[in-house]
Order: sequence, then structure tokens, then C-alpha cells
Amino acid sequence: MSNTQTRKADHLRICLEEDVQFRRNSSGFERYRFQHCCLPDLDYDEIDLSTSCLGKSLGAPLLISSMTGGTAQAKQINQRLAVAAQTYGLAMGVGSQRIAIEKPEVADTFAVRSLAPDILLFANLGAVQLNYTYGLAECQRAVDLLEADALILHLNPLQECIQPQGDRNFRGLLTKITDLCGKLPVPVLAKEVGNGISVQMAKQLVEAGVSAIDVAGAGGTSWAKVESERTTDARQRQLGHTFADWGLPTTECLVAIRSLYPDLPLIASGGLRNGLDAAKAIALGADLVGFALPFLRAASESPAAVDDLIQLLYAELTTALFCTGNATPAALRAAAVLQKLA
Ligand SMILES: Cc1cc2nc3c(=O)[nH]c(=O)nc-3n(C[C@H](O)[C@H](O)[C@H](O)COP(=O)(O)O)c2cc1C
Repeated sequence: MSNTQTRKADHLRICLEEDVQFRRNSSGFERYRFQHCCLPDLDYDEIDLSTSCLGKSLGAPLLISSMTGGTAQAKQINQRLAVAAQTYGLAMGVGSQRIAIEKPEVADTFAVRSLAPDILLFANLGAVQLNYTYGLAECQRAVDLLEADALILHLNPLQECIQPQGDRNFRGLLTKITDLCGKLPVPVLAKEVGNGISVQMAKQLVEAGVSAIDVAGAGGTSWAKVESERTTDARQRQLGHTFADWGLPTTECLVAIRSLYPDLPLIASGGLRNGLDAAKAIALGADLVGFALPFLRAASESPAAVDDLIQLLYAELTTALFCTGNATPAALRAAAVLQKLA
């Protein structure tokens, strides 16, 4: 295995076996409560979770967040997730495709389009790679390899700080993102990896031309923790511990960005752990809600576990709609039924 493949394999092992989640900084969903409706004027069976995003129809406003690729285990996980995404009409991202660009023989570990011909599918690269020889050609290759509908550029400065020999030259990236957004024929999205996007940064990214933002806020998987588990360097390990709970909670990013941009396609992820969190995120303005770690753990177990997880998310989301008296995610978003607790 190459160094990058070993890193990808380590990430999967650590995320599956270790405690990698934030402890003292939460996504913030527990600070909100729905107003219960004791007499919904609805038939539960008529509740319709379907929606659309970036021109594609979805069975529900759910996204399997960008995670993996590059190894045999990653291939199996991507394939299981893609089959489920196609069955239920969910959106899906794959992990950073840098390894597939550098080692074309592993491209098939990402290439799930044949299993999921109809889904909203996202390619993925680290934005920082634009400072390390990558340009339009590599971004286009990532999109083509996947037959993706759009490209996600992930922003991960903290992770690069903890990772030994991380790529830490982030200077001038906004100009390169602007250039890419103007030239790539598919939409470009910006996403963090679990430390959140502030409203100020969202403004700069929107002005650069990104078509959508995934806040990927704090409260779920902590990449400072994952990288600190992985390193054998004592100083890097301590650095990771110090920053384990660093970042902007998902709910704070979501509320702030939605209030500035009422119509921007906005994805909420980072620490969502059930369909009630998803319903709260929608009520706070999310068009899609993303889950990473829960899908990773289910997919590493079995296709049936992925199916069970999606059915539970559907049941939780539908129950939240029913018990707030809303027949669709759009109605939930428009209704003022979520209170922030004092
Ligand atoms: C094993 C694993 C690998 C990941 N790799 C990537 C990646 O390559 N690109 C990316 O944008 N995000 C990546 N992420 C971050 C997730 O997409 C997500 O933003 C983050 O884990 C927070 O969501 P969660 O709390 O539901 O896990 C990865 C997450 C996990 C668990």
C-alpha cells in the first residue's frame, strides 16, 4: 500500500474502533425543542419526504457525507452506501479522490455511478491541493471519474496541522477557488470536515462562486482526535488532544449562514446522529442533512445495517414532521415550530 492508502486505511480503522467524537463541544441540536402538535391535521402515511437539490430529485433530504475510497475495504463501503443511496434516492459523496488521481488503478474504489445511476453524487478533493500542483484538470478528472453532479472542495486546516507532514499552505486559495468555480462545468461546493464554516467565510466562498455550502460543523467526528490517534509523534498527538473540541457548532453555522443567504443551497452536517437532529436542521434552514460516522459504522457491518439505519432515519424524520403538523420538509422549514431553549 502507498502512504496515502495506509493513511486511508488507518482513518477507517480509527473511526470504526476508537472514540473519535467531540466531548465538550456539541453540534447544538439539544439546545432546540420542537413545539409539539397534539392534533396534526395529517395522515402519517401521506407524509412525503421527497425533495430536490441542485436540480436532482431526492427521496429524502439526506446525504451520505464524503468519506472514503482508495482501499479494498473503502470500495466495499462505498458500494454498499451507493446501493442504498440508489434504493432510497439519497445524495452521496465519496472521500477525497486525490489518491485516485495519483494512482489511477484505485479509481474503481470510488466509481459507484453504475450502482447509483440516478443519485445526486459528489466528487471530493481538498481545496488545499490547489496550492500543491492541482488545478482545473485534476478537478475535472475527479468529476469525470465519478460521473459526479458536482465537486465538493473540503477545507480542513486543523486536520492538516495535526497530520504529520500535512499540507499547510492555505495562502491565496480563495482566488484559486474563484477561478475554478468560473471554469468547472459542474457546481463547486465548499465543505469543512467537522470544524464548521463561519458566516464571514461563507460570504467569501459564495462571492468566490461556490454553488452550495456544507457547514460540517463541530460536535460529531473530530479530525483532531482521529489524526492524534494515528500519529506516533508525541507532540502531534498532544496537539490533536488540545484541539479535539475545536470548532464552530453545526447549529451556529447553519443559523448564521441561512440568515444571510435565504436561498443558498445549504447542507447541515457534523454531529447529526438521528432523524430528529435532521428535522431540527431542516427547521433551521438546511436543504440537506449529512451523516458520516453513522453511515460508516453501518456500512462496515452489512448492507442490512445500512438499510436499517436509513429506515430509522426515515421513521424519526417522519415522526418529527407528523408531531409538528407538517406534511413535507419544505413545510417544516417554513413553519415556526422550533424553539431555542434558554
Ligand atoms: C472515515 C471518514 C473519512 C472522511 N473523509 C473525508 C474526506 O475525504 N473528505 C471530506 O470532505 N470529508 C471527509 N470526512 C468528513 C465527513 O464528511 C464529515 O464532514 C464529518 O465526519 C462530520 O460528520 P459526522 O459527525 O456525521 O461524522 C470523513 C469522515 C469520516 C468519518
